[in-house]
Amino acid sequence: MFEEAQYFAPVAANDDGTVEVQLAASHPGFADPVYRARRNAIAALAVGYVPGTPIPTAEYTEQEHEVWAIVSRELALKHRKYATAEYQRAVTRLGLPGDRIPQLQEVGDLLEPLTGFRYIPAAGLVPLRDFYGVLADGLFHSTQYIRHHSTPLYTPEPDVIHEVIGHANALASDRYAALYRLAGQAARRVESDEALEFVSKVFWFTLEFGVMTDDGELRAYGAGILSSYGEIEEFRGMDIRPLDLAAMGTTHYDITKYQDVLFRADSLAHLEDVVGGFWESCDDEAVLRLIAEGRQG
Ligand SMILES: [Fe+2]
Repeated sequence: MFEEAQYFAPVAANDDGTVEVQLAASHPGFADPVYRARRNAIAALAVGYVPGTPIPTAEYTEQEHEVWAIVSRELALKHRKYATAEYQRAVTRLGLPGDRIPQLQEVGDLLEPLTGFRYIPAAGLVPLRDFYGVLADGLFHSTQYIRHHSTPLYTPEPDVIHEVIGHANALASDRYAALYRLAGQAARRVESDEALEFVSKVFWFTLEFGVMTDDGELRAYGAGILSSYGEIEEFRGMDIRPLDLAAMGTTHYDITKYQDVLFRADSLAHLEDVVGGFWESCDDEAVLRLIAEGRQG
């Protein structure tokens, strides 16, 4: 069962043109009317976005920029210890601002000359086939809102910190960006929903939550770990398994908790061989064989 739908707050577009983000009662910003209004206004930008035009500017408040500055600073310290060397080089290459939230347009302007990727705004959940498919074209769907200021180091949903610090830094690496593109090509190639879900789960356990042996240490390259202040300190203590396509594509995960099963590549070349090679050529038949293998194992 793919649960990503529960990960994003539902977004309702009303007939009068207004947009309402339906936060759960447990969300840190649920009882804050100012935050709720901000979320609705930012979601409306994405709902009204016309592909091919410049991304509308989100007018962030000082408080929102401050949340970015705090989290950026804390994560940068942790990346030195826990992020792969390839990711750390990509951080330097991209050069994101540390003191303010960059606009998604700006993120694309920085990334495009490096690896050809651009960002496009998403109000909330994007259907799997669209989300993954456009990776093949060098496009990345991204939320634009930031977490509630009362909990700067926690978010129950993917916000601009996850999308940009986690994913854009990775997308500034030629080798990681090539893997994102291959995932997109695989998502377009497979036809059944079952095969698409398998492809997306392999993405989840690699480009979102992947770890690898890097310079003799276990380090993370997945955007979900590298953008999470809590998770980055915990991943080395999780149940670390060898990279295995059949297992990754069929292992259940709960997006509302820290990932307790992680898959370790021996190196970036190993990840490219196994996972890149799979995405490069997989079809429905190959995925069905792996699903059968995963159910036996
Ligand atoms: Fe993500």
